[in-house]
Amino acid sequence: MNSTRRHPYQCWMQILLLMSAAFCLSTTSIQAETPKPYATPNAPLLGSAWYPEQWPPDQYPGRWEADLALMEQAHMNVVRIGEFAWSTIEPTEGHYNMDWIDLAITLAAKHHIAVVIGTPTDAPPAWLTNRYPQTLGMNVDGKFREHGSRRQFNYASPRYRQLCALIVTQLAKRFGHNPNVIGWQIGNEYTDESFDPATRAQFQQFLKTKYKTLENLNKQWSTAYWSQTYTDWSQIPMQNANENPGLLLDHKHFVTATWRSFQREQVDILRAVILPRQFITTNIGGLAWSDNWDHYSITADLDLASWDDYVGQGHLQASRNAMLNDFARGWKRQNFWIMETQPGSVNWAPINNALDPGEIRALAWQAIGHGADAILYWQWRDALNGQEQYHGAIVGPDGNPNPIYAEIKQLGHDLDLTRAVIAGTSPHAEVAVLHDYDSRWAIDFQLHTKDYDQEQILLDFYRPLQSIAQSVDVVEATAPLDSYKLVVAPSLNVISQPLADHLVTYVRNGGHLILGPRSGMKDQYNSLNPQRQPGPLVEALGAHVDQFYALDDKVPLSFPPDSRHLSGSPRGKADIWAEVLTPTAPDVHVDLIYGGTPSDTHGWLDNHAAMITRAIGKGSLTLLGTLPDDDLMYQLLSKATSEAHVSIDVRMPYGVELCTRFSPTGNKVLIVINHNKTPQSITLPKPMHELLTDKTLTTIDLPTQGVVVLPTESSQ
Ligand code: GLA
Repeated sequence: MNSTRRHPYQCWMQILLLMSAAFCLSTTSIQAETPKPYATPNAPLLGSAWYPEQWPPDQYPGRWEADLALMEQAHMNVVRIGEFAWSTIEPTEGHYNMDWIDLAITLAAKHHIAVVIGTPTDAPPAWLTNRYPQTLGMNVDGKFREHGSRRQFNYASPRYRQLCALIVTQLAKRFGHNPNVIGWQIGNEYTDESFDPATRAQFQQFLKTKYKTLENLNKQWSTAYWSQTYTDWSQIPMQNANENPGLLLDHKHFVTATWRSFQREQVDILRAVILPRQFITTNIGGLAWSDNWDHYSITADLDLASWDDYVGQGHLQASRNAMLNDFARGWKRQNFWIMETQPGSVNWAPINNALDPGEIRALAWQAIGHGADAILYWQWRDALNGQEQYHGAIVGPDGNPNPIYAEIKQLGHDLDLTRAVIAGTSPHAEVAVLHDYDSRWAIDFQLHTKDYDQEQILLDFYRPLQSIAQSVDVVEATAPLDSYKLVVAPSLNVISQPLADHLVTYVRNGGHLILGPRSGMKDQYNSLNPQRQPGPLVEALGAHVDQFYALDDKVPLSFPPDSRHLSGSPRGKADIWAEVLTPTAPDVHVDLIYGGTPSDTHGWLDNHAAMITRAIGKGSLTLLGTLPDDDLMYQLLSKATSEAHVSIDVRMPYGVELCTRFSPTGNKVLIVINHNKTPQSITLPKPMHELLTDKTLTTIDLPTQGVVVLPTESSQ
C-alpha cells in the first residue's frame, strides 16, 4: 500500500514517522560495529511468532488488539514479526508499505510486548523472482527452484543480495530507532545453497583464493588419484556428495562463507543504522544439529545466537535436548534464545503427535536451565491457508485460545515469579565436550560404517558427563579451554598442527583431555595424516593407531590385569568402531584392552589396547579408540571427572535434571526438572526457598514434568 494514499491509522503514523525520521538523519554516519556479548534485559522473555500481515485490519478489525491482549494475559512480553512479509512490505518494486508494521509495534508496546523484526529475505515476492530469474537458486539436480514456497532464492546471487539490501535498509531506517524494537532476526533458517553455474564460478574463485595455484590444490587433494588432476580452475565441479573429500570439505567451507557474507551484508546495513541496544541474530534451524554450514562461523557476526527447538515426532528426549541447548550456547559461548519451539505439535514430522501436558513447560525450563534467555513459540496462530495449516498454534482458527494456551500462560507466570533472580545469570561448566564441523563433515563424507551416527556418539559421551557433572559446555575445538578441568573430544577426525598445539598446551597446563575414536585421521585438507592417528598428536600421546576396524559385532572390553583404575576389572562391550592402539613411549598407560575370557577371541583386536593415557606436563592425554557401552562409558567418565577434580553438586535421581545458572557475584539459581513419567522426591541438603510455590522446602516432591526453582546465595 503506497504511503501517499490516506490510511485508517494516519494520525498514529505521522507521529511515529516524524520520531524515527529524526533519529535516522542523526545516526547514518555510525560505522558497522563488531558484535558484543548481548545480555537480554528482563530475561527470560516469553513470546511467539506473530504474523499481523496475514490479518489486515480492514479485513479483520480489532484482531491485532485481541491477539496482543491475549498474549499479555499469558504474561508474554515479546513477539517476532515480518520474517515472511516481503510481499506486504514491498508489494511492487520500490514501493514500500511499512505503516502497518509501525502500528503493530505501537499496539504491542501498549500491551508491554517488545518486538523483534525479521528481515524478509527467506521468501522473496513473485514480482522479484519473475523480474530477476537469476535470483532463483538451483538444486543439486540442476533444477531451478521456483516461487510458491520459500527458500527459492539463490544465496550467492549478487542481484538478490542487492534487492535484500534495499529492503533491509528501508526497514532499518524506519525501525532502527523505534523504542519498542529490541532486535532483528536476519532471514529465517538458512538452508538451501545453490548449484547454478554462476555460483559454481564463485566456488572456483573461492578455491583460487585459498590455494593460490592449481598445483597446490592438486597436491592437497591428491588429484593424481583417478586422474582428477585440474589444469584450469573452471574444470572444478561443485558437488555436495560422492566427490573428492578435499573438494567436499571445501564446498562446505564455501557454503559457510557464502551464507556468512549473505548475512554480513545485512548485519552491516543494520549496524550502521540501528540503536546499539537492538541485537542482531538469526534463527538456526535443523534442530541445531544440521550441518549445512558452520554455526560457529555464522554466529560470530551476530550479537546473539538463537535456535529453533522442536521435538517433532515423539516426546522430549531430555538428554538430547539438553545437549542441543549446550551446543547452541557453545556457538557464541554465551546465553542464547529459543526463537521458535512447538506449542504442542508440529506439522512436518512423520507423526505430528502433541507433546504431553506439562512437556512444553518442562522443555522451556530445560532450555532456560541451559542458558536460554527467551522462549518464543511458533506460532501464535496458523494462517487460514498455506503450507502450515496443521502446525500447532497457541490460538485456533477462530482466534480463541487452544488448550496449550493455559500451559504457556502458566510458564509465563513462572517467569514473572523468577525473572528477578534469573536475569543476568548463566550456566557455568568445568567440563567441556568438543565439537568440530570439519571433523563432522569429514566423517559424514566417508562413514565407513552406517552405524556411525555422530549426534548419537556425541550424546553417548555427553549424557554420562551431564548426569555426573550436571553442567557441561559443548564448544568448538579451537575455543579457549583453560577454564575446563576435563575436556572430551568424541570425534575430532580433522586435527591440524595448530589445533594439536592448542590441545597439547591445554594438557600441559593441567587439563585432562580424552580423545574419542577416529581422532586425528585427517588434516585441514581432509587428507590422511601421514603419521597415522591421532596425526600431529602422535608424539605427545607416545602412541599411534595401528589399525581401525568397523565392527559388525560387539567386542568385549576388559581392564588390563595391572589396571590402576578399578580392582576386579569389570567388563564391557565395544561397539561400531575399534582401533588398535600401539604405545611407543614407555610411560603410556593401557587403561582398556579388547578381549575377555581366553575362549572369547576377536581376531585382530584381542589383547590390544583400546584405551591409553599418558601424563603430559600437569595434565593427561587419553585416547579411547572405541565406543564402550553405556555402563562402561559411565564408569570411565565418572573416574575421569573425579581424577580431574571436577566439583559435583548434589546428585539427582535418574531422569531428574539439575540445571544451575550463576550470577556474576556467584549466586546460583537451581532449576530442577523431573523428566520421568513418575513423581520423584528429592531431599535437599538444607531448607531452601522455592520460588514457584513461594515455600521453604527440605524435600521437593516433583510430579512428572514438575519444575522447581531454588535461588541460593553465593557461598563466598
Ligand atoms: C521452522 C521455520 C518456521 C516454521 C516452523 C514449523 O522452524 O522457521 O517458519 O516453518 O519451522 O515448525
